[in-house]
Amino acid sequence: MKILVLGTAAGGGFPQWNCACPTCADPSLPPRTQDGLAISADGSTWYLVNASPDIRAQILAAPELRAGPGPRDTPIHGVLLTDAELDHTLGLLMLREGEGLEVHAPPAVLAALRDDFPVQDIVNRYGRWSWSTIGNDQRIGGLRVRVLPVSDKKPKYADQVRPGPWVVAYRFEDPRTGGVLVYAPCLATLPTEFDEFVDGATTVLLDGTFYDTEELAGRTSAAPGAQVVMGHVPIATSLDHLKKLSALQPGTNWAYTHLNNTNPVLDPRSSQHRGVRAAGVKVLPDQTALEL
Ligand code: MLT
Ligand code: MN
Ligand code: ZN
Repeated sequence: MKILVLGTAAGGGFPQWNCACPTCADPSLPPRTQDGLAISADGSTWYLVNASPDIRAQILAAPELRAGPGPRDTPIHGVLLTDAELDHTLGLLMLREGEGLEVHAPPAVLAALRDDFPVQDIVNRYGRWSWSTIGNDQRIGGLRVRVLPVSDKKPKYADQVRPGPWVVAYRFEDPRTGGVLVYAPCLATLPTEFDEFVDGATTVLLDGTFYDTEELAGRTSAAPGAQVVMGHVPIATSLDHLKKLSALQPGTNWAYTHLNNTNPVLDPRSSQHRGVRAAGVKVLPDQTALEL
């Protein structure tokens, strides 16, 4: 399977338009768009995993996703959503010019996109879209897709109380090559099933939003510890666990994604970045292509 890492930043991207923190103000650090992937079993039919507001630029930057061969053809057939957050769903509106896509998501996410942020109703008027509940062991585009519920953190805009899961991780398995990708850009904690979910994975991309629990303090109006409330396990916690897992499964490549603009790991000169790299975990740039 082929994977394009389209974006690697958390909501707001990097730099963030209203942030003058030292990392955002450093012109030597490469910009990052909001996180999402494109994934394909055969290199010709592609699925997006999350649709960020940066999706137009992300598609145009990837030759594999360019329109054609017919005047209105696109290799993009659908979108899988890990959650209903705006940084992962606003891009659906940007895709309205197409003939319509198949969207796969957990039930709470589909309901939010119907009732709280009515994307379904909006884009359905522009094309033939389909909206399906993602099953736990489904074939999509020639890949086996498994789903792990990871959190019940609902988006700020969603008023309605409804049962989760609100956030899932995906495991994509290519039956032809044996390649396995796990994508978990939003993790409130490392759930007990996490180790089994990543077992035998070739590559795992996981939530690296924040480095530590106090990172937002003093930088924004958010209270100390706000990122725990925001539902993201900090790297300072997850990295210790990844070290243990890498000893058990040395064949797996690990990388952090969904990096918030406040995260010191964005700067390769930081001790935090060096600590992540020393543990064998990567911080991939946007537009990284993987073949598994
Ligand atoms: C998150 O990942 O916590 C959300 O995307 C935050 C946001 O609304 O940008
Ligand atoms: Mn986010
Ligand atoms: Zn910043």
